Amino acid sequence: MKNIVVLVSGGGTNLQALIDAEKRGELGNGKITCVIASKADAYALERAKNNGIKTVTLVRKDYPDVTAYSKAMTEVLKAENADLVVYAGFMTILDEQVCSAFPYKMMNVHPALIPSFCGKGFYGLHVHEAALEKGVKLSGATVHFVTEECDGGPIILQKAVEVKNGDTPETLQKRIMEEAEWKILPKAVQLFCDDKITVKDGKAVINE
Ligand code: GAR
Repeated sequence: MKNIVVLVSGGGTNLQALIDAEKRGELGNGKITCVIASKADAYALERAKNNGIKTVTLVRKDYPDVTAYSKAMTEVLKAENADLVVYAGFMTILDEQVCSAFPYKMMNVHPALIPSFCGKGFYGLHVHEAALEKGVKLSGATVHFVTEECDGGPIILQKAVEVKNGDTPETLQKRIMEEAEWKILPKAVQLFCDDKITVKDGKAVINE
């Protein structure tokens, strides 16, 4: 079995989608063994506890800088024997020491079709504000491997979602979560845990 460690900062609906998928037997050879939160009041922690999953809280402001925080995170991930690290609404920046300790073993769900509306400053509702400001007719979600480049790692799965007249950042966020994120994140985790993803020439290839 592969140990899946999930990193969270907020409500944790993507964590819930992973927990539900595991209960349905849809995470393949993977098991969620630990949830790490960057905020002590993240509701995602309650979701983990309600499902008997170990929790760790690593608060960013308890560390002087990103280097010290990343070192602490790397140590916890190693101690947890993480085979896969999933950023599920994890809003705190980690440096390259974490990526190099877990090469192509960390994935992130981003609420847009990368390379649109991604990179520094594009997180949470800001992503949907930018999509509505531009007037795109399709947005969606992307699951990608985490590398040193923010939102720049190999793309694993994407799903497009329609933008509708009158959408607000909140309504668009909700539709993208329901129609895309909560589906493609568990699927990408399952593919990884069943050894069906390889990275070739910087691109992820799915071998189903
Ligand atoms: C999700 O929409 C996720 O894609 C996004 O934050 C939300 C977290 O919701 N992540 C990012 O913007 C990362 N760049 P959740 O806590 O309910 O899963």
